[in-house]
Amino acid sequence: MTDQRHWTHIGRAEDLNTGAIEFALTADTAAAGTSPQRGFALRHDGEMRAYVNQCPHLGIELNWMPGRFMDSDGCFIQCATHGALFLPKSGECIAGPCQGDALTPLEVVERPDGIYIRPPE
Ligand code: FES
Repeated sequence: MTDQRHWTHIGRAEDLNTGAIEFALTADTAAAGTSPQRGFALRHDGEMRAYVNQCPHLGIELNWMPGRFMDSDGCFIQCATHGALFLPKSGECIAGPCQGDALTPLEVVERPDGIYIRPPE
């Protein structure tokens, strides 16, 4: 069966200079079975990562400022509301009220003309 998922351009590498790229999730890019919302992509340890911007604790957006998702040490993605910490590599919550849950990942690639995401299979 042919993969019907589309790659969607969300920005350029230089857009990451101030933190993460935020973008709207459309019906094409939202994870299957979820309603359209927002997502973010960032580079951590040289790898691009992208997730739905929704804390598994209360279902609200993670960041308190545009493009700011990392904790003060730049080690973990942090929810601004109650401080849950998530591994950038997997989205797993390792501390906080939703420990053991995880962010919803999106596939992300960096190409010469920019950064693209698509929903997981
Ligand atoms: S809403 Fe994110 S930790 Fe509570």
